[in-house]
Amino acid sequence: GADVQVDISKIEPGQQLTVKWRSKPVWIVRRTADMLAELGNHDDRLRDPNSDEPQQPEFAKNAYRSLKEEYLVLVGICTHLGCSPKFLADGEFAKQAEVVGVNNGFFCPCHGSKFDLAGRVFSGVPAPLNLQVPPYQFLDDNTILIG
Ligand code: FES
Repeated sequence: GADVQVDISKIEPGQQLTVKWRSKPVWIVRRTADMLAELGNHDDRLRDPNSDEPQQPEFAKNAYRSLKEEYLVLVGICTHLGCSPKFLADGEFAKQAEVVGVNNGFFCPCHGSKFDLAGRVFSGVPAPLNLQVPPYQFLDDNTILIG
């Protein structure tokens, strides 16, 4: 079928894995405690900090936009015009996307849209919406089913 089963056991903390789902890239990021803590420090700079727009399944409408805090699952397509943003960690997001005090996130090379590590869009960029969370579930601790 069109659903994709992903083994997440080899993703190290702080790393991103990209898989294909219905011909779209889907990212799985294993977030560290530091990455998770950082999500609380910039709500006032986000367009939709509480994810009120329907860009995620009901189960992911929470502070981390995920089923399990540690694992972020996102459709890797910019909500502006469909480029694929770049995952930047360890201070590279602050540097390359020029977002003071936010070390990790996604930066779209096409027109400069910026998203945090929950896929929430920053204000003042062309992308109108947070990145989309696809439907998914955990089949067991090491396996995600997307779709
Ligand atoms: Fe990403 Fe335009 S497509 S900013």
